[in-house]
Amino acid sequence: MSMLTASAPGKVILFGEHAVVYGRPAIVCAISRRVRVTAELAGDGVVVEQRGVRQRLRLGGEGKPRGRFRYVAAAVEEAFREAGRRTGVRLSIRSELPEAAGLGSSAAVSVATLLAVLRLLGAEVSPGRLAELGHRVELRVQGAASPTDTAISAHGGMLYIHGGGYERLTPPELRLVVGDTRVKRRTADLVARVRSLHRRHERVVESLLDAIGAVTLAARGEVERHSARRLGELMNINHHLLEALGVSTPELNRLVHAARAAGAEGAKLTGAGGGGCMVALAQERHGEVLEALSSSCSAFSVEVSAEGAVIEG
Ligand code: PMV
Repeated sequence: MSMLTASAPGKVILFGEHAVVYGRPAIVCAISRRVRVTAELAGDGVVVEQRGVRQRLRLGGEGKPRGRFRYVAAAVEEAFREAGRRTGVRLSIRSELPEAAGLGSSAAVSVATLLAVLRLLGAEVSPGRLAELGHRVELRVQGAASPTDTAISAHGGMLYIHGGGYERLTPPELRLVVGDTRVKRRTADLVARVRSLHRRHERVVESLLDAIGAVTLAARGEVERHSARRLGELMNINHHLLEALGVSTPELNRLVHAARAAGAEGAKLTGAGGGGCMVALAQERHGEVLEALSSSCSAFSVEVSAEGAVIEG
């Protein structure tokens, strides 16, 4: 094939962010907002285009790839290495995900680019291998990265992250609303903030992390029982434990309370906190929750996407 489109989903963390850095479990699901990468065999070199910005990528340099398309550049290099050959390629990227908001947009770009370029070169790749290659891309660009975002983007559905690995869960039908504060933040800064609190109050912070671990374990049981009401309660508890760790903000708290007042079964910040997004479980009063959040932030409905990275069409 000389032209194809690959897509990969973004994610929300439903339970366990931050605690997962200290070895506790987490639950993450793929969402119905995706990144699409169209790849076409073309001349020499690698050209990438997104929203009217076009760039010829410089590949093969030493050190960290830089610039706006650094994830794309690292993913193309990784795909060429995996396939054992290279080609001239033109890439066009369309994203439904806000950036630096905790919804996994860089992982989705990396995974969709990997899949598009590998398939353009005629190479098959399993979701597990795609997750590994995606993780390498993130490590190369960021220096440190958890394997969570690229794993969920490659596999889709819902994953239980624990012990350095992950397990697939069968997701119940969840109707979620995401509220984006549009405050950009860096995950590494928030992880460092928790690390410093941990250093100063080790025993207290350890017991908060244990509590988050217990919430996540209980949530896993509720996922299997399909109980939205109890899952929502656990999301509420998880939010307040994250607040105790110092990663919420007045704006995130306000949105979480607005969602609950409008009838959400539960609501919490999602991802690193400090800005970024919150997520509400809104099975019964979906319209009301969406409306309440839309009046004070950029809000949108998402479902769990069973589909991971795929070739479209
Ligand atoms: O980058 P985000 O917003 O998806 O958050 C990452 C989740 C953390 O647990 C805070 C960090 C990590 O590497 O797991």
